[in-house]
Amino acid sequence: MTRHFLRDDDITPAEQAEILDLAVELKKDRWADKSLAGPKTVAVIFDKSSTRTRVSFAVGIADLGGSPLIITTASSQLGGKETPADTARVLERQVAAIVWRTYAQQGLEEMAEGTRVPVVNALSDDFHPCQLLADLLTVREHKGELRGLTLSFFGDGRSNMAHSYALAGAMAGMHVRIASPAEYAPREDVVADAQRLAAETGGSVTVHTDPEAAAAAADVVVTDTWVSMGKEEEKQARLRDLSAYKVTADLMGRADEKAIFIHCLPADRGYEVDAEVIDGPQSVIWDEAENRLHAQKALLVWLLRQAA
Ligand code: CP
Ligand code: NVA
Repeated sequence: MTRHFLRDDDITPAEQAEILDLAVELKKDRWADKSLAGPKTVAVIFDKSSTRTRVSFAVGIADLGGSPLIITTASSQLGGKETPADTARVLERQVAAIVWRTYAQQGLEEMAEGTRVPVVNALSDDFHPCQLLADLLTVREHKGELRGLTLSFFGDGRSNMAHSYALAGAMAGMHVRIASPAEYAPREDVVADAQRLAAETGGSVTVHTDPEAAAAAADVVVTDTWVSMGKEEEKQARLRDLSAYKVTADLMGRADEKAIFIHCLPADRGYEVDAEVIDGPQSVIWDEAENRLHAQKALLVWLLRQAA
């Protein structure tokens, strides 16, 4: 059966663990798995800018023996000129999987409904599930187990990253705290879905407005840009509204003394995080960026196995 990965909770907790285990194996030997031999092509489509996602999918698909086809929406018929469903019907006869970075989640759902090949969300306005696989892999490498750890996110709680931390963190059995001003709180339906998952795994998801309380004894401290792609017009308001949620050395000092700092990148030093934190000894951001490669390879291999 074709499986898609449009949201973090499109897989079960056991499947998430299976994909992370596979990522560990693939990281040990980058060229051992040739699931895309042929070469099979994977379409990787971008409506928004990208460095890490573009590079890690292109390199990962090549590592697996396949051929990445990078499509920029502006130079294609997507983006209002052709529907996602029609595009999917064209692509499915020629590619093994479709990876898409876009705005509305709805477009990804239409793409997935229209095709027999796996569709992967490479970031939408609502979720960034591929990033979470890499982040969980990174936390696991640095902390051992995921279950029972406290992960505290600071900043735009209604962003794709905050939503994905709530869902994927809960799925991994973590205690996820989202700290933001009330008007930037995560979507209630996402929190409810994450809390249902947490009840299954022994984790928890809580929403905070007090950054200091949210940081207390945390094992993983996380932030993301205050101005996500598509929100540029709100930049001045966001810099003002979110300023109390900056990850400073003082905030980091309230976390556990062995806490690690992660950030999906790109980062705005001096805004959501101070340079002394992101470039300091507790930061593991370069491992995190590398792990996009290993985690996404594992995801592709796993999705293709389900479809076989
Ligand atoms: N973290 C992340 O998705 O980075 P890019 O926007 O560079 O792909
Ligand atoms: N929240 C950010 C993540 C970038 C990888 C954005 O959507 O721009």
